[in-house]
Amino acid sequence: MKLLLATVAAFAVISTISAAVRGKAPTKQLNDGNHIPSLGLGSFGFDEIRKMRQAVWDAVQAGYRHIDTAALYGNEVEIGKGIADVIKQGIVKREDLFITTKLWNDKHGRNQVVPALRESLQKLGLEYVDLYLIHSPEATDAQGNTIKVDVAETWQGMEEAKRLGLARSIGVSNFNIEQIDRIIKNSNFVPSVNQIEIHPSNTKEKEVADCFERGIVVVAYSPFGFFVSRAGGGNVVNRNDPKLLNIARKYNKSINQVILRYELDRDLIPIPKSTNPQRIAENINVFDFQLTPEEIGIVGSFNQNKSIFD
Ligand SMILES: NC(=O)c1ccc[n+]([C@@H]2O[C@H](COP(=O)([O-])OP(=O)(O)OC[C@H]3O[C@@H](n4cnc5c(N)ncnc54)[C@H](OP(=O)(O)O)[C@@H]3O)[C@@H](O)[C@H]2O)c1
Repeated sequence: MKLLLATVAAFAVISTISAAVRGKAPTKQLNDGNHIPSLGLGSFGFDEIRKMRQAVWDAVQAGYRHIDTAALYGNEVEIGKGIADVIKQGIVKREDLFITTKLWNDKHGRNQVVPALRESLQKLGLEYVDLYLIHSPEATDAQGNTIKVDVAETWQGMEEAKRLGLARSIGVSNFNIEQIDRIIKNSNFVPSVNQIEIHPSNTKEKEVADCFERGIVVVAYSPFGFFVSRAGGGNVVNRNDPKLLNIARKYNKSINQVILRYELDRDLIPIPKSTNPQRIAENINVFDFQLTPEEIGIVGSFNQNKSIFD
């Protein structure tokens, strides 16, 4: 009997560990063969940098394996501390995590890319990132004045980062299809990801279809759009819309969970940001239901082609 109980207990521990290692979000294959978890933790918020270490801890505990940051956010050191904590505590290994960071606009010169990534890696305390993105197609000088740098030139620096093993996958953010095609025409590497703003008020069907046609995975930033109140106010969508409430009731989920599920069911990868442990857990608790095509249409009917970020 004792032996049986010990075996059952050991099995329970092993299955808990393997569930913890796998995380809650299934993965999607990128065009270079690597895999990206289909939901990640966003981290943008200049006034919440200090909270990010704990947020990474809470997120990994809740089953996240994908964290999104950027040189611009100023939080790579705190995120790195959070990553070190979960690895040191044996909750996950580095290879279980998928970490994205981004090249800022003032480092678009071909020879600036690898040094910029090395600086991010040093702050994160990592030897490589899983995904490095050009944050935006707009190049600036150090003072923030717009300058002309061909995106194809910046991409050569990105390729170098991949060749050196400093970034497992490379991609872009805020690029339109012409800019992506300019890269494809001048390179052997198609970007693996385009990270763009997508939510029910800005559904971007055409942009998504153009990316999918080229084998590019689309990461949806600001996935809640105007369904959460934002600094600057205005534009908040009525969360009490009866059609949305009906969907939420049907699945026993919150409106925010329905919105994330809408993006997942469109084959997008949402990266909701939260520093609140309950909401962090809520946002990844979306893999036990699926919307019908009709419900996807209802959530998408809030589209107004309206962006939060220019
Ligand atoms: N590539 C780019 O140019 C770009 C641009 C913007 C954003 N991003 C990335 O995308 C991430 C997400 O975008 P975002 O931060 O703009 O917006 P978001 O994730 O759509 O919304 C974040 C806001 O929603 C609140 N929230 C989170 N979960 C909630 C829930 N379950 N119920 C109610 N409120 C909830 C958060 O507050 P609490 O923290 O208090 O929960 C926060 O105020 C960013 O953090 C960043 O990593 C990339």
